[in-house]
Amino acid sequence: MRRVFNTVLRYLTAVPETRAILRRIPFGSAEMRTAFELWSRPPYAYGVWNAAQQARALGLKMMSAIEFGVAGGNGLLALENISEKISAEIGVQIIVYGFDSGIGMPQASDFRDLPHVWQRGFYRMDAEKLRRRLGANTHLVLGEVSNTIPETASSIPPVGFIAFDLDYYSSTKSAFNIFDTESSRRLPRVYCYFDDIMYPEWACHNPYVGELRAISEFNEEHNTMKLSPIHLLRGMRPHPQAWNDQIYILHDFEHPDYNTNLTIRRGAVTEKPLK
Ligand SMILES: C[S@@+](CC[C@H](N)C(=O)[O-])C[C@H]1O[C@@H](n2cnc3c(N)ncnc32)[C@H](O)[C@@H]1O
Repeated sequence: MRRVFNTVLRYLTAVPETRAILRRIPFGSAEMRTAFELWSRPPYAYGVWNAAQQARALGLKMMSAIEFGVAGGNGLLALENISEKISAEIGVQIIVYGFDSGIGMPQASDFRDLPHVWQRGFYRMDAEKLRRRLGANTHLVLGEVSNTIPETASSIPPVGFIAFDLDYYSSTKSAFNIFDTESSRRLPRVYCYFDDIMYPEWACHNPYVGELRAISEFNEEHNTMKLSPIHLLRGMRPHPQAWNDQIYILHDFEHPDYNTNLTIRRGAVTEKPLK
């Protein structure tokens, strides 16, 4: 019965207009909504779902989901909603953090920040108004990320998902300091979504500017941690989408749990492990 339902849903959700309607109707499990793109922010749901699965398999009771760059708060509210639903289904408590200056974009440093697209003062927020809409498990951390991350990063549950949406190369580079913490502060594989590697078209994103440059410098500067897309992710999704190419994983190869077998822990095989 479930197979028939999923097949029908797969056909229905193949049509973008139907998906848009179904997104507004609160039905089905978080797993099903994640598989068929039925959240307002499908890449956030994909990252949180898979990170929470990983956390549960590792026996963790809590994890963090982060948005870097909050602006008006639509993304943070979506992340909060997704995290609540996934948390209830998977049984891992998810604490959500939104980091933002609170006063819009800082001064661009140079061409690497794409000042032809963004500039100082863009995306101001009404922090008090947003705070009133947030639940108890969501925290808004205001200030320049190069200051707020060192103050916050060492006291949060293990990070499982991060949406990077700070637009600039320089801000993204600062945000990567979230990984300069003890390995107990993150899952061995952290699901990351990079918003600013496509759109607007006139940004002409390339490896020498913006988030792509920050990613490639991170990889050059770190031997035991790498940021990498999931090879052929779009080939594994029921409805391949552009965001599939915006998902990267922070691989922490020396994390004590990097080699812990998740296949057995997730119950995907029933054999007892050989001693
Ligand atoms: C495009 S907006 C975020 C939009 C939001 N994620 C959404 O989906 O609704 C980018 C935000 O990044 C913040 N930002 C950029 N650089 C920053 C920095 N160095 N420190 C703190 N916030 C920064 C800006 O204040 C701005 O609100």
